[in-house]
Amino acid sequence: MSIKRIGVFTSGGDAPGMNACIRAVVRACIYHEVEIYGIKRGFDGMIKGSINPLESHSVSNIVQRGGTILKSARSMEFMTLEGRKKAYQQLRNFDIDGLVAIGGNGTFTGAKIFEEEFGIPTIGCPGTIDNDLYGTDYTIGYDTAVNTALEAIDKIRDTADSHNRVFFIEVMGRDSGYIAVQSGIGGGAEIVMVPETDTTIDDVISTLEKGKLKHKTSAIIIVAEGDEEGNATEIAMKVKEKISDLDIKVTTLGHIQRGGSPTAKDRILASRTGVAAVEGLLKGMKNVMAGVINDEIVYTSFEETIKNPKPINEDLIRMVNILSV
Ligand code: F6P
Repeated sequence: MSIKRIGVFTSGGDAPGMNACIRAVVRACIYHEVEIYGIKRGFDGMIKGSINPLESHSVSNIVQRGGTILKSARSMEFMTLEGRKKAYQQLRNFDIDGLVAIGGNGTFTGAKIFEEEFGIPTIGCPGTIDNDLYGTDYTIGYDTAVNTALEAIDKIRDTADSHNRVFFIEVMGRDSGYIAVQSGIGGGAEIVMVPETDTTIDDVISTLEKGKLKHKTSAIIIVAEGDEEGNATEIAMKVKEKISDLDIKVTTLGHIQRGGSPTAKDRILASRTGVAAVEGLLKGMKNVMAGVINDEIVYTSFEETIKNPKPINEDLIRMVNILSV
């Protein structure tokens, strides 16, 4: 049965480039003569029936904007069968027979269960700043987040150098060190601490002491929020307990990394995966994420995306040590 009306929504943590993706989905639907509806606030809006038709002009002038015009949420109600039943009923009321979900693994898990229970096919677009999705080289929003972090690190480096201080800078990434590693390399960090590898407090101290011997007067340590030693404040306190004469400061970059105008890379990735999601649905695909691997569109099953971790390139971690020698 061919699809006649698609619903698009953004879900989970927002990411710069989500708007460019919504725009691509809408324009691809119009190009292929399929009706397109926007669902507000992810699965929550689906349950409540916050669903409206979108036209070409509805997505004018948003390609460059951060955030998501459709808003986003993490829905507890959709985790229950009762909630999903309500969502299905709403989709039936609006005659929506296919979905494009822009989000991360939580979103895809919900969409997969929903399809198995109610048969509404969904294709996902990888929307998260964390870059932690298997089945795509990069995720929408990641490049912008790295550049935002980098800009902040450059500024902190100026003041760290002026005052001979050690700065612990916390970047986002609950389970993933991608932003930390890339911004650490780009920002010339002495150490990068990520959940994927073990860096102990003693390792930090030894690197700082070696730096002192080499007449380094300041240091930048990037901490991914999910590091096993704790967050940046906790790690800084543990280091201070062992070398009390260090002048240590902590900066948590936080949600600044989730906003802002998307970079060219993110806009292009968002546009490509948005169009691929619509075209995949029209070809009869379901329960897959449209990603880009080696510059080609690749569809990976939700099952694989959810199940498989996306390991960080160990060589990048090794390089941080080489570059900070
Ligand atoms: O998944 C994206 C992300 O920004 C993570 O890096 C971070 O841990 C989390 O979302 C924060 O979520 P919230 O905005 O709900 O606090």
